[in-house]
Amino acid sequence: MNAANPNSPAPLGEDARRVQRPSTDPFLFRPITLRGVTARNRIMLAPLCEYSATDGVANDWHMVHLGARAIGGAGIICTEATHVSAEGRITPHCLGLWNETQRDALARIVDFVVAQGATPAIQIGHAGRKASVGRPWEGGGPLTPDQGGWQTIAPSAQPFTQAYPTPRAMTKADIARVTGEFVHSAKLARQAGFQIAELHGAHGYLLHQFLSPLVNDRQDEYGGSLENRARFLLEVVRAVRTEWPKELPLFVRLSCTDWVDGGLTGDESVELCRMLAATGEVDLIDASTGGADPRQSIRAFPGYQVSYAERIRREAGIATGAVGMINTPDLAEEILANGRADLIIMGRKLMADPHWPLKAAVALRAQAPWVPQYERAAPMA
Ligand SMILES: Cc1cc2nc3c(=O)[nH]c(=O)nc-3n(C[C@H](O)[C@H](O)[C@H](O)COP(=O)(O)O)c2cc1C
Repeated sequence: MNAANPNSPAPLGEDARRVQRPSTDPFLFRPITLRGVTARNRIMLAPLCEYSATDGVANDWHMVHLGARAIGGAGIICTEATHVSAEGRITPHCLGLWNETQRDALARIVDFVVAQGATPAIQIGHAGRKASVGRPWEGGGPLTPDQGGWQTIAPSAQPFTQAYPTPRAMTKADIARVTGEFVHSAKLARQAGFQIAELHGAHGYLLHQFLSPLVNDRQDEYGGSLENRARFLLEVVRAVRTEWPKELPLFVRLSCTDWVDGGLTGDESVELCRMLAATGEVDLIDASTGGADPRQSIRAFPGYQVSYAERIRREAGIATGAVGMINTPDLAEEILANGRADLIIMGRKLMADPHWPLKAAVALRAQAPWVPQYERAAPMA
């Protein structure tokens, strides 16, 4: 084997022992173009709640959290779930985007992320019946009114667990109002300079609550059949597109299974993604799972959700992002090279190691996206 250049022919006599070596143009570090936006590689920082904002306004914590991962080489830097209204926040410390102060604080971070060569993305959401809880490190759980808790809303008046207060079932006026809030947030996100918007339709939050038959028992045109349960999400997608420019990609994060009998299934998710693809407005499905029903039983292992990204990509004909314990360069490369997803979305590994993409580039023998300030730390070629 020619050690200097693995793509050179092996010397005579070595063919029998020749093994396939990975290409020097790994998929993980190939740019991805969606609409008018090109990200430098296929690694996206997953949305990660930091529970560290005041009045929904981003601060130094968010700058360092997002900025460090941009320096670390990820192609797309996504904010945590950023909520369309005060009532839509998971905790009082979550990010929000319904006013100009919030917009301007995010714009500063967007500028920094872009200056490092990364593409800024924002996850926009509403927590529905899972809103009004405390920070995990303060015990989590529903807040009482004395603790600043508020009345939550949901498709149906069913609490998440018995420990949660009963949400108010949304009227059609509520549905129209919240749709308008999503549109307003998308408009502010565009003004802040975000280049990708992701709607949070997963993890048991409001859009997912409509999708899941375990949560939504409405009798009107927003409940019952999949077509009806998908109506709210599809309306939000179309409405958001009136403010989110045609040249910018729109992602939707979905929980592709509820992991509970009677809940959303992989088959239904494929059907739902066909509907989303047919709108012509959605560019990528971020394929996650779970969160709607506390009875869920999840067996997690490296790449445990990849099969959903793979099926949706193949059967619904739309680009997908794979997420969930994709922690090694080889697994990430396998997923992309075998056409199982278009993007690798990483949460905890990037939390633990913001420079993981730079190290993965070395492992896969790609050009590492070092920022000039840190170039002297790059391994010698
Ligand atoms: C601390 C923490 C906060 C999270 N916050 C969000 C969030 O705001 N929005 C979201 O869609 N998922 C959220 N998630 C889920 C992650 O985006 C990701 O899907 C999950 O951690 C699995 O990927 P991983 O194994 O690479 O961490 C969060 C996960 C963690 C650990």
